[in-house]
Amino acid sequence: MSAFGDDRDADPNGPERTRALLPRAQTWAAFDGTTIVATAATIDHGLIVPGGAVLPMAGLTAVMVRPTHRRRGLLRELMRRHQDDARARGFAIGGLWSSEASIYGRFGYGLATEGDVLEIPDARTLELAAPRELDELEWIDEPTARALLPAIYARSVALRPGALVRSDLWWRERRFLEAPFMRGGASLRRHVLARRGGTYVGYVQYRQRPGWSDGLPAGKLEIVELVAVDARAEATLWQLALHVDLFPHVSWWNAPVDDVLAWSVTNSRQIRRRRNDGLWLRVEDVAVALAARTFDGDGAVRFAVEDTTWELVVEGGHAVRCAPTTESAELVMSRATLGALYLGGVPASRLARANLIAGSPEALRRADRMFVSAVVPWCPELF
Ligand SMILES: CC(C)(COP(=O)(O)OP(=O)(O)OC[C@H]1O[C@@H](n2cnc3c(N)ncnc32)[C@H](O)[C@@H]1OP(=O)(O)O)[C@@H](O)C(=O)NCCC(=O)NCCS
Repeated sequence: MSAFGDDRDADPNGPERTRALLPRAQTWAAFDGTTIVATAATIDHGLIVPGGAVLPMAGLTAVMVRPTHRRRGLLRELMRRHQDDARARGFAIGGLWSSEASIYGRFGYGLATEGDVLEIPDARTLELAAPRELDELEWIDEPTARALLPAIYARSVALRPGALVRSDLWWRERRFLEAPFMRGGASLRRHVLARRGGTYVGYVQYRQRPGWSDGLPAGKLEIVELVAVDARAEATLWQLALHVDLFPHVSWWNAPVDDVLAWSVTNSRQIRRRRNDGLWLRVEDVAVALAARTFDGDGAVRFAVEDTTWELVVEGGHAVRCAPTTESAELVMSRATLGALYLGGVPASRLARANLIAGSPEALRRADRMFVSAVVPWCPELF
């Protein structure tokens, strides 16, 4: 299917790779005669929730409808199959990345993580605000990256709500896949580690797109991923990415919104940012999902989603009670809004200002104290 406009179908190993990632039982296709005209699939992911627990997530992917068959309800039917299957297999949560922000709210998904599209047209102009201690750097080849990156990633995102656990298969078939459609004419991935003593504390992966302008270097360095266990390692890797000779134009399609860069330079307007939506979540099982995460504030709140009112009581950072109640709700929201609230990236009071939650200012303040996560959610993984 060519819905995303790339030529991944032309990759001779494509079908085999797709089969490995998508078990047959979790893929759906609509046929017109013998021709496939629409597809969808579920990938079983592990979602890191506030506190670091991993909640199994039904990840929707490969949603495509042929232009000849659009707007006839095929997506709606595929969504029904996907969600029925997810519920039957006991998933408390479903997630997806959306090609357009307007599609999935109607299916109960709310925006749970955001990222920034960063463009630094000339990194040489950035002025560091204050010197700081940095880590060592180590250039590594692809086989070494395959061996070392998974453990560094796991350590770096262990407490990051919205990040996904990566299986060996995922690393092999998605993170290290070098199909032409993924490169879009840029170089192979480069890998650089940050090292402190004998321990690896982060890595940056990037591609290069050489270029010259009037005889001057104008190459582009495209960050694929930069993850670090702490701010010092993060700053170290930024220093590297911003100072590759001949590549002054630096970009990253999905930087965490709390990255260290903007506050590390005096002239942050040299960094252009566009906020982008990331992971969309649908909470299938409210009790299981809320029991999985921790909360930064204790308290109690009653909220209604669809026709059920829930009583949530948090003590010591954990939901000690989350069950239906016959008492009246203090907050009323849709299932999609609960998905937006779930990882703690956006306060309930802000959603209320957007008319997505109804409730008193006092109940909203209580919900803010309970739900908002001190660690900002981020999903490094597009699937
Ligand atoms: C997006 C896409 C899957 C929609 O498929 P479709 O079969 O035309 O959708 P349906 O006819 O089932 O529409 C279901 C509902 O979603 C709405 N909808 C569909 N596509 C939409 C879009 N791009 N933006 C906003 N609403 C959309 C329809 O209007 C309909 O709403 P309604 O039930 O209130 O009338 C299809 O256009 C497509 O393949 N696009 C290119 C690839 C892509 O973007 N895939 C999604 C990847 S996340």
